[in-house]
Amino acid sequence: MGQKEVKRNKAMKMKILILHGPNLNLLGEREPEIYGRVTLAEINRRLEETAAELGVELKIVQSNYEGALVEEVHRAAKECAGIVLNLAAYTHTSVALRDALAAVGIPGIEVHLSNIYAREDFRWRSLTAPVLMGQISGLGADGYLWALRALVKKLTTG
Ligand code: DQA
Repeated sequence: MGQKEVKRNKAMKMKILILHGPNLNLLGEREPEIYGRVTLAEINRRLEETAAELGVELKIVQSNYEGALVEEVHRAAKECAGIVLNLAAYTHTSVALRDALAAVGIPGIEVHLSNIYAREDFRWRSLTAPVLMGQISGLGADGYLWALRALVKKLTTG
């Protein structure tokens, strides 16, 4: 394969945004009895492995700031085919993030490491899931990998 072809193939890869919300940078040390011992770096490594298998490219972002997450959603609408996101506590509180997802209409799957329905009642409601394709909750780090597989399948085969 010539260099031009390699470049063209790279440019054709579907790009998916992985968006991690507040406090997820502390995974591994944060309440391990709830979230396990897997770090965010390890989750991202497993996601990259799965992406390579699926032939898609990832953009991975973590932020503790609501506005920064909103801007990533806006950017994703131009750069990416879909989003896998764990907005963490903002899932339950952020009208701004729900509105951003609804405004750009990008296909996305929400992930929660813990089973939010088996925890405090303020976690039972997701403001964002209704404007997304679906949600995976309670499967730990594997949830991200299933979400990526499901999203890519939907985007490629409908
Ligand atoms: C979480 C669940 C949220 O309720 C919580 O605020 C988080 C993490 C999860 O992955 O289980 O920070 O999104």
